[in-house]
Amino acid sequence: MSTASFPEGFEWGVSTSAFQIEGATNIDGRGPSIWDTFSVDRVETCDHYHRYPEDVRLMRELGLGSYRFSMSWPRIFPDGGGKPNAAGLDFYDRLVDELVGAGIKPYATLYHWDLPQALEDRGGWPSRDTALRFADYAAAVHQRLGDRVRTWFTLNEPWVAAFLGYGAGIHAPGRTSAAEAFAAAHHMLLGHGLAVRALREAGAAEVGIVLNISPVMTPAQVSDPGRRASEEDAAAVARIDTLVNRQFLEPVLRGAYPEELLPVIERHGGLGHVHDGDLEVIGQPIDLLGVNYYAPLVVQAQPSEPADTAYPGSEGVLFCTVPTAVTAMGWPIVPGCLSQLLGRLTREYPGLELMITENGADFVDVVTGDGIHDVDRISFIEEHLRALRAALDAGANVRGYLAWTLLDNLEWVDGYQRKFGLVHVDFATQRRRLKDSALWYRDVVRRNGLAETPPKRPTLETVAARAGVSRATVSRVVNGESSVSPEVRTAVMRAVNELGYVPNLAARSLVTRRTNAVALVLSVPRQGGGDALTAAVVQYVTSLLEGAGKQITLMLADTAESHRRIVAHVEARLADGVVLLPPDRADALAERLSRTGVPVVLLGKPEIASLVPYVDVDNAGGAAAATEHLLERGRRRVGMVCGPMDLVTVQDRLAGHRAALQRAGLQPYLAPADDLTRSAGAGAMRRLLADAPALDAVFAATDQLAIGAMRALREAGRRVPDDVAVVGFDDIDAASATTPALTTVRVPVADQALALARLLLSRLEGRHTTSVVLPARLVVRESA
Ligand code: FCB
Repeated sequence: MSTASFPEGFEWGVSTSAFQIEGATNIDGRGPSIWDTFSVDRVETCDHYHRYPEDVRLMRELGLGSYRFSMSWPRIFPDGGGKPNAAGLDFYDRLVDELVGAGIKPYATLYHWDLPQALEDRGGWPSRDTALRFADYAAAVHQRLGDRVRTWFTLNEPWVAAFLGYGAGIHAPGRTSAAEAFAAAHHMLLGHGLAVRALREAGAAEVGIVLNISPVMTPAQVSDPGRRASEEDAAAVARIDTLVNRQFLEPVLRGAYPEELLPVIERHGGLGHVHDGDLEVIGQPIDLLGVNYYAPLVVQAQPSEPADTAYPGSEGVLFCTVPTAVTAMGWPIVPGCLSQLLGRLTREYPGLELMITENGADFVDVVTGDGIHDVDRISFIEEHLRALRAALDAGANVRGYLAWTLLDNLEWVDGYQRKFGLVHVDFATQRRRLKDSALWYRDVVRRNGLAETPPKRPTLETVAARAGVSRATVSRVVNGESSVSPEVRTAVMRAVNELGYVPNLAARSLVTRRTNAVALVLSVPRQGGGDALTAAVVQYVTSLLEGAGKQITLMLADTAESHRRIVAHVEARLADGVVLLPPDRADALAERLSRTGVPVVLLGKPEIASLVPYVDVDNAGGAAAATEHLLERGRRRVGMVCGPMDLVTVQDRLAGHRAALQRAGLQPYLAPADDLTRSAGAGAMRRLLADAPALDAVFAATDQLAIGAMRALREAGRRVPDDVAVVGFDDIDAASATTPALTTVRVPVADQALALARLLLSRLEGRHTTSVVLPARLVVRESA
């Protein structure tokens, strides 16, 4: 068999989950789930509840043979128990009929994190009773659907549900107790075992569970898996592997907890919840293990490190970021880990049938009139499929591959800003559009494998033929000559983009004596901040400069070594100009680059006054407008959630806020957040409430911080905006999707990109140019 094709009968499909796509949360008798309560985002999401026929049709068009979906427990048992809600069951009945009618095999997951709120109110997963209710629920749905659904998965990723939900509190229900997290994990496992038993008794053909399996390794092992770790590092790796992987694999597949785990559980609240006989129930044989793989966990020993609340017992372990390519979510892209983990499961559990039940990536898509171009997603999936193919060759028994996911959707606590779909969803109109990755995946499914050879590199001739012009015209366009009409230029650039044509730099610079190349230098944005803006600006700047005939060289400035390489590249005149973004900690690089004499432009005001022109938004003016709006609404005790004070943007927003308060003769209440994540915003808000309990308004330096603040306010029982009005900054996608929708200050992304591109182009033409500061506009919504 060639390495590109898959075994006959290999199953291809996608996975989704109920809460993330269904919407329709309060009709036909559905009760609230813990995610309805916890989410600050709009829960209507893709309205799949009403649009499922269209979604099934899309899957059919893509030729998918398998579909894993989850059922919403509170749709079936709105109060957690009693008689099942017939209307809820009817929905899944219709869905399954639709799937079967389209020739798509249904894989049903019983629990993908949306516990009925009624059961949470009675103790949730830390209470043993929830496991018993879960088995009743399994029996009820099987009774209705068992004639058409052959394969049942009990739980999805119990580690996430237990430890992020009950330990770290960053997922619903938002509790923060290590003891409760361990008890929740055990009761989920018990619920799994009881459900397996109930399903088997009812005659289910196949039963399994879906686990998130993350290979754990040291930083050095990411690129060199065979590398030996020091004893301390190996011990750190083993501890995390036990918590995340073995805590679930071994009870289910061997009927016992790992020995090393017991003292850890004992230390955190004891083992009283583990009753005699539980592990026998949990360890009943299963038919299929679902494996969700996204990224490895990278750790090393660090004696001073406190435990991470998601990993109780991880004292002395440092979670590391590694210099690899990452998705927009910041998850490292390491496809080889998929082969490794399948190899491990095959070795440790011989004979066990596996299925990849989730794998996929969040990237910022380029949405244009002619399609959604998501090359990054295509290469992500392609590389993982190659890794999967290698694992099959090495003997892994894998039934199929289900991509995460069909539709862009509500990505839990990250809301709508995350895009994992093969299909783009416009949440204002609910229009679905296939992304390039969907079309590419359709071809993979059709040929049962990857294309043998990469497509031929397009040439000048191919571009000319596609655009319907001569070779000379194409050449003039890509060399940036101005003698071509805008229409012809657009047609040629469209063909260039569609075909992925890369002009031959060397040959071209011989003719033009210029490289016509522009270096787009990305300094790594901080964890949790600025990445979405950066990604959007990169895309706009790239297409604008390409439209002007420039060839873009993307360079990553993440280490001192990479800074040296970039400076050397520019000094060697391999670029005519440089766009540098974001400015965060990139000042020194900007100065060094400007000394090369090559034009440089910056996104964002640099920390120290500089000769390099930049494009920025009026952060101080926007913050003042936000604050004045709160004052006009009669608020008098206005706090601010700030963000790290060494960020120039944060400093400017704080200055604008202070100035507005001072004009009104009021005093500021400030709480800096450690970074720009939602959880940092929630933490700062809690401190603010503790210091100034009578606060009636909050301005947050970014929307992410504001969303975190809204969560903390909700936890504290304060209503937004009745008790406390909230305003954010940035107007990210998620802002309009919060409940209530967030009032914020819009940062014009496209205008910034346009200004950057123009600034660079004028500098390339030798014109003297000064920095540009664009206005930021207040967008008033319900939160203030
Ligand atoms: C997995 C979840 C899934 C989705 C992806 C991105 O952990 O099972 O619902 O959120 O991550």
